[in-house]
Amino acid sequence: MDDLKLFQPGKIGSIEVKNRVVMAPLTRCRSDEVAGDIPGSDMNIEYYRQRANAGLIISEGTQVSPAGKGYMATPGIYSEAQVQGWKPITEAVHAAGSKIIAQIWHVGRITHPDLTGGLNPIAPSAIKPNVVAYTHNGKVDVPVPHELTAEEIKVVVNEYRQGAANAIKAGFDGVEIHGANGYLIDQFLRDGANKRTDQYGGSFENRARFALEVVDAVIAEIGAGKVGIRLSPVTPFNDLSDSNPQEVFGYLIEQLNQRGIGFIHMIEGSTGGDRNVPGFDYGWARKTFKGTYIVNNGYTREMAINALETGWADAVSFGRAYIANPDLVQRLKLNAPLAEGNPQTYYAPGPEGYIDYPSLTA
Ligand code: PHB
Repeated sequence: MDDLKLFQPGKIGSIEVKNRVVMAPLTRCRSDEVAGDIPGSDMNIEYYRQRANAGLIISEGTQVSPAGKGYMATPGIYSEAQVQGWKPITEAVHAAGSKIIAQIWHVGRITHPDLTGGLNPIAPSAIKPNVVAYTHNGKVDVPVPHELTAEEIKVVVNEYRQGAANAIKAGFDGVEIHGANGYLIDQFLRDGANKRTDQYGGSFENRARFALEVVDAVIAEIGAGKVGIRLSPVTPFNDLSDSNPQEVFGYLIEQLNQRGIGFIHMIEGSTGGDRNVPGFDYGWARKTFKGTYIVNNGYTREMAINALETGWADAVSFGRAYIANPDLVQRLKLNAPLAEGNPQTYYAPGPEGYIDYPSLTA
């Protein structure tokens, strides 16, 4: 058992990890929204501490600005109070022997002014996605987003840079740039949302420009080995699509290599759903990318062990499985049954369905 690669120590980028099991970023909507989207309550600390068996924990998405928020009570990484809020969480994870990085996130057009303090959603182009937002006023359609000017894009790039700097201040071991799932970076990458005619739109090189400017800014701030990016080349999640995913994501990955980025976190197929969506060659990506290659999306124990043993990946991340199985690594080692989470409490406030899932050994 212990000779399985999945359970052996290694490195993710420059971060030393005790095993190759990664906790995927999970939106849980349990920050202190009234105080300013601040994490760090006792239950937030306990939630992450319970899961510090993973080699690496990737935090829930943390918005880099008020406009970058798309769900209720998600934590930020732009204010001093948020940085202070994260500190006891990163300390608890480190004390329990694991590593934790912050996922830095801007939702772009996937939001509503009720969630952003009245700010209009922003996007590469003024195209409304067919999605709803969940706000304190219930389920609402999202509005047509504001098309960013080139000047405004610079400001947003700097927000990611500042988010990365803040993450290090808060004690995180690095950051994951959220480039997946139809949020802002993905909106620039894929031509279903990007109809720009300037240097940020049109050709695949132009559509990758925003992602690479963010990557460059974050790397300049904290160093390439501590930086990764999450990608989902073919997911239809958040009403996004692209006419040729292989072309734009292929180019992006080659550019990421040139920058020596620490890792790619690849969502294979449709987020949380069908793994077999055509349009992108993951085997090519794995072979081409020189950093640590993490895979995600519906992996079972057997699939994860196999992915490591065959060289399909360097690490595997588990999202939903980590909700109801705080001791996931132990369960994978023992081949113990996995508990099912209750979707009713995924995004609900309070400790229920958050810190009350039992471990095999209490
Ligand atoms: C969600 O809150 O449902 C969510 C957030 C970020 C993702 C995917 C899903 O990347």
